[in-house]
This record gives sequence, structure tokens and C-alpha cells, in this order.
Amino acid sequence: MAALLEVEGLAKTFGSLRAVDGASLAVEPHSITALIGPNGSGKTTLFNLITGYLSPDSGHVRFDGRDVTGANPGRLYRRGLSRTFQQARVFPQLTVQENLTVAAGYSWAQLFGRRMSAADRERVARLLEEFRMAHVADLFASELSYGQRKLLEFAAVLMSSPKLVLLDEPTAGVNPVMIATMEQHIRERHAAGVTFLIVEHDMPVVMRLCDPVVVLDQGREIFTGPPQAVQTNPLVLDAYLGA
Ligand SMILES: Nc1ncnc2c1ncn2[C@@H]1O[C@H](COP(=O)(O)OP(=O)(O)O)[C@@H](O)[C@H]1O
Ligand SMILES: [Mg+2]
Repeated sequence: MAALLEVEGLAKTFGSLRAVDGASLAVEPHSITALIGPNGSGKTTLFNLITGYLSPDSGHVRFDGRDVTGANPGRLYRRGLSRTFQQARVFPQLTVQENLTVAAGYSWAQLFGRRMSAADRERVARLLEEFRMAHVADLFASELSYGQRKLLEFAAVLMSSPKLVLLDEPTAGVNPVMIATMEQHIRERHAAGVTFLIVEHDMPVVMRLCDPVVVLDQGREIFTGPPQAVQTNPLVLDAYLGA
């Protein structure tokens, strides 16, 4: 089967720093692929290159059978490639419900003119229900806890009916109950057919949730394999302990 996402030889330097240095990886359809690696190994930069927030110096990105190298984030979002950010990005001055509405592609003018289709109103209501956020639907996003903002960002990404979702540290800095909730939502969406590529530091979460695991070190992948093999691989141990 062809990979849903193929990254080939991507590179990005900042001044003299090779943040991503010829990275290649493939995400198979219906997988939950983990991307791990020491701090500063280039994981977020790689996400930015894949999702069009940065253009690579060299290399290629293919998504769903098309070359999308350097495509802009909005176009990729509409094609089914969505991502979240390490520091959750939601609109703090919009309510929870409004955040989901703008994620469906409505302009702010349409939002305040209440010109939403019945189908999209229904999708927003269902997501609020599914994420147990109906009771906070009218709160401003700025009033949510950090963990709730991360959940909202994830829910908002789902408004685009994505094929592939990239999550950058979805559980970092959130409490254990919220980690379990986040994990559950990832599992449910995965069961419904969504493919994931996840940067995750919490190893127990990676072990439970992800297969395969791709390890990045100094901007280059050094290992790809099942989660059980990661913790005993000498290259991986070196990357983490040698840093
Ligand atoms: N916009 C930028 N300008 C300069 N250096 C950057 C920029 N973004 C990231 N870096 C550097 O690139 C390296 C990789 O960063 P990053 O991709 O954030 O790593 P990770 O997400 O794996 O922790 C780090 O050394 C970081 O300081
Ligand atoms: Mg990062």
C-alpha cells in the first residue's frame, strides 16, 4: 500500500544550524506513527516543513499521492492534512463554539452573522458532545485550562474531516486525567479512519498508542520500528543518553 505521507530528504537550516538534516519517513494509512527524539532534534521543524509553515531548503513531501512540497497550510488543511501546535493555538477571544465554527472554514463575519449551514451546526454540536465541552461552549477559549485548550485545538482540527492529523506533544503539560482523555479521543478518531503522526514525550503513551515509532536525532531519522524495539535499540539509547 502506498504511504499516506512520504517525506524524503527534507532539510532546513537556520543560519549555520541544520535543524532538519535530510530527514525521510513514511506514514502508512491507518497508522498511529510516533515521532520521538531528544529536545532540539528537529521534530517541530519537521512538522512545520510538512505542513507548509516553513519551506524546506531541499527534499520532498508527498501527501495522499501528490507532491505537496512547499504548499501553503490552508491548502493542505482543505486537502485533509491538519496539525496542532506544541503551544496550543486557539482564538482566545472567541468562544469554544466559535473556535469550532471558524475551523469549519467560516469567516468571522459569517460567524457573527450566524450564517452557518445546518449540517455544520450539527457537526459543531456533535463535537462539543463528543469532547464533553458542551457545558463550556460559550466560554471564551482564554477561560479554559491549558489541557482543555489542547483538547479544543484537537477538536477544531477535526472540523476539517482530516485524513492525517499531526499532533505536536498533545499530552505535554496536561494532567493525568486529561492525558487519558486525549488518548481516548485519538483512539476513537483512529478507529473512525483517521491516520496520526504524533510527537510525544510520554513513553508509556507512545508504547500504548503508537506503531511504528520513528526516532529523530540531529534532524535525521535514526530508527523506525515497533515500540517494543525502540527502548532496546543501541542507536536510540545513544541519542538520548549521549546528548
Ligand atoms: N525559527 C527558528 N530559528 C532558529 N532556530 C530554530 C528555529 N526553530 C527551531 N530552531 C532550532 O532548531 C533546532 C530544532 O528545533 P525543534 O524543531 O523545535 O526541535 P524539537 O521539536 O525536536 O525539540 C533547535 O536547535 C532549535 O533551537
Ligand atoms: Mg518541539
